[in-house]
Amino acid sequence: MDPAKVRPSSAYNTPYWTTNGGAPVWNNNNSMTVGPRGPILLEDYHLVEKLAQFDRERIPERVVHARGAAAKGFFEVTHDISALTAADFLRAPGVQTPVIVRFSTVVHERGSPETLRDPRGFAVKFYTREGNFDMVGNNMPVFFIRDGMKFPDMVHAFKPNPKSHIQEAWRIMDFLSHHPESCHMLTFLLDDAGIPLNYRHMPGFGVHTMKLINKAGRETYVKFHWVPKCGEKYLLDDEAVLVGGANHSHATKDLYDAIAAGDYPEWALMVQTMDPADEDKFDFDPLDVTKTWPETLFPMQPVGRMVLNRNVDNFFNENEQVAFCPAIIVPGIGYSDDKLLQTRIFSYADTQRHRLGPNYLLLPVNAPRAPYHNNHHEGFMNFMHRDEEINYFPSRFDPVRNAERVAAVSTAPLSGRREKMVIAKENNFMQAGARWRTFDAARQERFVVRVADMLADPRCTQEIRRIWVGYWSQADPQLGARIAAKLQGRGCL
Ligand code: HEM
Repeated sequence: MDPAKVRPSSAYNTPYWTTNGGAPVWNNNNSMTVGPRGPILLEDYHLVEKLAQFDRERIPERVVHARGAAAKGFFEVTHDISALTAADFLRAPGVQTPVIVRFSTVVHERGSPETLRDPRGFAVKFYTREGNFDMVGNNMPVFFIRDGMKFPDMVHAFKPNPKSHIQEAWRIMDFLSHHPESCHMLTFLLDDAGIPLNYRHMPGFGVHTMKLINKAGRETYVKFHWVPKCGEKYLLDDEAVLVGGANHSHATKDLYDAIAAGDYPEWALMVQTMDPADEDKFDFDPLDVTKTWPETLFPMQPVGRMVLNRNVDNFFNENEQVAFCPAIIVPGIGYSDDKLLQTRIFSYADTQRHRLGPNYLLLPVNAPRAPYHNNHHEGFMNFMHRDEEINYFPSRFDPVRNAERVAAVSTAPLSGRREKMVIAKENNFMQAGARWRTFDAARQERFVVRVADMLADPRCTQEIRRIWVGYWSQADPQLGARIAAKLQGRGCL
């Protein structure tokens, strides 16, 4: 094999081993000792450097979504939506944009089994000509909570008990019993969809309402959906035990092997759109992240396709160091007032400055492929080579100027009092019950059993169980009754 292909970096252009400083290492097998048996001399700089580097190999894992797999490919526009958005990468059918995608599980550690019941992350970074656009979604179209204030508590409840380091159902059901808005998300998590067969067979959802903004400044609400070409498939609980027991990285391996074999995974990008003037016309709040938009009212419209045709060249560089952030958008796309989205706009870059360092956006996997220029420089691990004398703005010595103001940036007026409140139209149960009723009989029963299993945890109190039976009865009286009967049958109610 051509060594240049194995080691593309110029840092590897020597035929022999060197220190990080580039000095030849004449013995990479034996420590420098006094006599053949030791002790070791501290002056063996190469040994010290080798160990010091090794001692620091691990970086903090992501606080959530630590376990994941990435792949690269392209997005191609198939349908013209230029009337809705001025986004350059959506300008016309046929336009292709490079992407990197990271799939993940949410709750457990970097090396945890990929068969656990958990939402899956579906994060896409588009390297567009106008900078990067990150669509940081999940494989389920809604979320447990609608206010980011609750996110750290929610994650704590799902993560292992801080005392035992074991994930415990009673903690989850206790926390969520204060949040009836979680019922809809639970009809995905505790459904068969809670364990996808692998990453290739799962859908993706932007989840939040975002905005498309066209050249004239007209805003349209949008929800993004990724539909897998090979179809959606799940693992039932007993199948997951077998698959996970045989290989705790089955989904990473499936993705890697499929791409290596030329069986490239593909998703269609679909959108649902809504005129913001209509947002008050429904019995639910369209910006509420615990709600889907009914397809009968808001049909799916095709936009493009995404093909993953390249595996990562290095897991650490492109999976561990990749940083997705819902705040990273391009002109033609805007944030909505969804409270959960607004919290995420802060949280991702904040954690990434901690996890990867302040210059994480200079890393090749995160840097835009479009030209970029500003005076945000220096700081830890800054490897940008600047030779300008002007690092202030504005300057008569530097022609760099503000970009043209584009119309495709949201200018929708805002008004209101400062509040800390719940939204007006909570409507917590309707969509949960409607979804359960779409399941066939066997799938309904599996859902009932999984809810009962969670509530049968000996540390779930009668109060918690009764609250949940009440919630599920409001979603669907039969569903509530069946869960109650299951619990009574087990002597738990
Ligand atoms: C990862 C926060 C809700 C999808 C993360 C990370 C944080 C975070 C801190 C780790 C990022 C990193 O270390 O690079 C939050 C907060 C939320 C929230 C504060 C609510 C207020 C959501 C929702 C979704 C989502 C609703 C889905 C729509 C993801 C994904 C990743 C992630 C896919 C992994 C990205 C990757 O592969 O690197 N989140 N999250 N999160 N989050 Fe969220």
